[in-house]
Amino acid sequence: MFVGDSLNRNQWESMVCLVQSVVPSARKSLSKTGSLSIFTIQDYNATVEFYWAPFLVESNSDDPNMHSILNRIIMPESIDKHGNNWKNVDYLIFNTYIWWMNTFSMKILRGSFDEGATEYDEIDRPTAYKRVLATWSQWVDKNIDPNRTQVFFMSMSPLHIKSLDWENSDGIKCAKETSPILNTSMPLNVGTDKRLFVIAANVTRSINVPVYFLNITTLSEYRKDAHTSVHTIRQGKMLMPEQQADPATYADCIHWCLPGLPDTWNEFLYSRIISRS
Ligand SMILES: *[C@@H]1O[C@H](CO)[C@@H](O)[C@H](O)[C@H]1NC(C)=O
Ligand SMILES: *[C@@H]1O[C@H](CO)[C@@H](O)[C@H](O)[C@H]1NC(C)=O
Ligand SMILES: *[C@@H]1O[C@H](CO)[C@@H](O)[C@H](O)[C@H]1NC(C)=O
Ligand SMILES: *[C@@H]1O[C@H](CO)[C@@H](O)[C@H](O)[C@H]1NC(C)=O
Ligand SMILES: *[C@@H]1O[C@H](CO)[C@@H](O)[C@H](O)[C@H]1NC(C)=O
Repeated sequence: MFVGDSLNRNQWESMVCLVQSVVPSARKSLSKTGSLSIFTIQDYNATVEFYWAPFLVESNSDDPNMHSILNRIIMPESIDKHGNNWKNVDYLIFNTYIWWMNTFSMKILRGSFDEGATEYDEIDRPTAYKRVLATWSQWVDKNIDPNRTQVFFMSMSPLHIKSLDWENSDGIKCAKETSPILNTSMPLNVGTDKRLFVIAANVTRSINVPVYFLNITTLSEYRKDAHTSVHTIRQGKMLMPEQQADPATYADCIHWCLPGLPDTWNEFLYSRIISRS
């Protein structure tokens, strides 16, 4: 089960694509119920699942179909409502990053959504991220039997929004890029919040249940060419030709094409899974 934001969904889609082609069409199915998407492979009694929880903890962005909340508010100490859906699986793969990135501070609800609370405090992003991962790590320690479940945490998936970051003054976001950044001596800064990387790396080391931190950030930073760009889906539909002609507005330089980079992330995951036994 993959748990997290749309980048983890991107990786789940990659995993489904990687395994589905060997399964005859009558022996597999895809279903979606609320926050949970399930790919089922009947003959192996196996499922590959994705659970939408972009902040892992409870937030006002938890509706899996309503994705345009700009005023994002979280409850950093509240995780059980989601966590109850993550139990008794064989492999749990977490992430949380992109939803943190559109403001420098994070809004913390005073009280709970269930009680109709609307007031909030604002705290800086790394402090809020640390609180959320502390809640998450306590949940893992309390609820995961490491003999039953293997736990992974994906590091942040980078964006390629500013072509000057790789010194292309003619670029439009990632839209015109057809090759990776090949010059590895060029200092690479595409705006990834490395503070969150350090926090996640640290938390996944200090937790009791073994959690494997999958470091995909740097290698993905080189892949300015690998985003969906204007070949993306918006509100369930491919972009219209006039939208494709306006990459400055419409190019998606967050998500990744498939086949593509997330397949490599899954190869890391797979090699970790098979090397344990
Ligand atoms: C399929 O998996 C479920 C859940 O792990 C288990 O209860 C059931 O016995 C399995 N069925 C078969 C045919 O292996
Ligand atoms: C996991 O399995 C080992 C070996 O069978 C056992 O010693 C240990 O107590 C188990 N741990 C848990 C948390 O059940
Ligand atoms: C690679 O980047 C370094 C540092 O920015 C620069 O000095 C060098 O000329 C670049 N090499 C190529 C082949 O562009
Ligand atoms: C790393 O985690 C430990 C244990 O949770 C904590 O005490 C320490 O402050 C953390 N360090 C950083 C740099 O986050
Ligand atoms: C993550 O991987 C990159 C190379 O892809 C490496 O340079 C970096 O040190 C790694 N970071 C950690 C914390 O392992």
